[in-house]
Amino acid sequence: MFRTRRLRKSEGIRRLVRETKLSVDDFIYPLFIEEGENIKTEIVSMPGIHRFSLDRISEELEEVVTLNIPAVLLFGIPSDKDEEGTETWNDNGIMQQAIRFIKKNYPSLYVITDVCFCEYTSHGHCGIIHENDVDNDATLVNIAKQVISHAKAGVDMVAPSGMMDGTIDMIRQSLDNTGFVNLPIMAYSVKYASAFYGPFRDAADSAPTFGDRRTYQMDPSNRDEGMREATFDDQEGADILMVKPALSYLDIIRDLKNNFDRPIACYNVSGEYAMVKAAAEKGWIDGERVMMESLLSMKRAGADIIITYFAKEAAKILNK
Ligand code: PBG
Repeated sequence: MFRTRRLRKSEGIRRLVRETKLSVDDFIYPLFIEEGENIKTEIVSMPGIHRFSLDRISEELEEVVTLNIPAVLLFGIPSDKDEEGTETWNDNGIMQQAIRFIKKNYPSLYVITDVCFCEYTSHGHCGIIHENDVDNDATLVNIAKQVISHAKAGVDMVAPSGMMDGTIDMIRQSLDNTGFVNLPIMAYSVKYASAFYGPFRDAADSAPTFGDRRTYQMDPSNRDEGMREATFDDQEGADILMVKPALSYLDIIRDLKNNFDRPIACYNVSGEYAMVKAAAEKGWIDGERVMMESLLSMKRAGADIIITYFAKEAAKILNK
């Protein structure tokens, strides 16, 4: 008989044959930074996650650094929005201030910015609107302005999430032409038009006021198209390729891992976090174990990097 149970008999042997191991080194922790003063507001649908103003962000950063989490992903929530999201390239905007503040006070922390417009536009879409849809090429011009402004503020890596065609090419060229040849790009390469972003849009105040994002984000039905998206970003020079969301798209993570010689990241999004928290609160699941099992499954699927709201909680367990 084939006896596979021999290698499961005790924790000792299970440790020896364990194939996948999570580490704090895998995590990027998202941060919501709101313009204003004395703000620490818990996001109702994301227990434990807050919006902070810059003057209160240190308590959060201290914890992140103490837990040895290597990186944060910043989202800015500006007090002024307009049609184009011009605040995104204001050198004194909330993102730019946050980058400077963190790099000055926590130099060891790796700072990544989400490059998009939806939190900054009055209509909540990820670019410039022409005839009821986002104008791809006009938006690219503004993406370049935004990225250069983040670069000048001292960001370590940029992560464009708007799903405009040609984004990576535009960013790479703009950075290279302004002397930022060593600034890497993490591309939201395979990003689906997903219902799992619901809580984030409350958190970042970025829900579209009309229509939806299906003319730029991908159809959840499509797998081959994900390969196409990743191929273009790879060829345009993205340094890291990301899949988003994570849990319902583990097949896509594995596709990318098998087909591209680049680090693969996944985004364990707000709705995935909210589901675990809600069920755990009701006592229907063991929240801690489901969290660790979910994160492990992303790594097993092929993710080298996991962007997750669970980063602090998981780090506490892994650091024990
Ligand atoms: C766009 C952006 C979104 C998320 C990250 N970047 C929202 C969207 O595409 O609507 C979602 C993250 C999450 O749900 O946790 N700037």
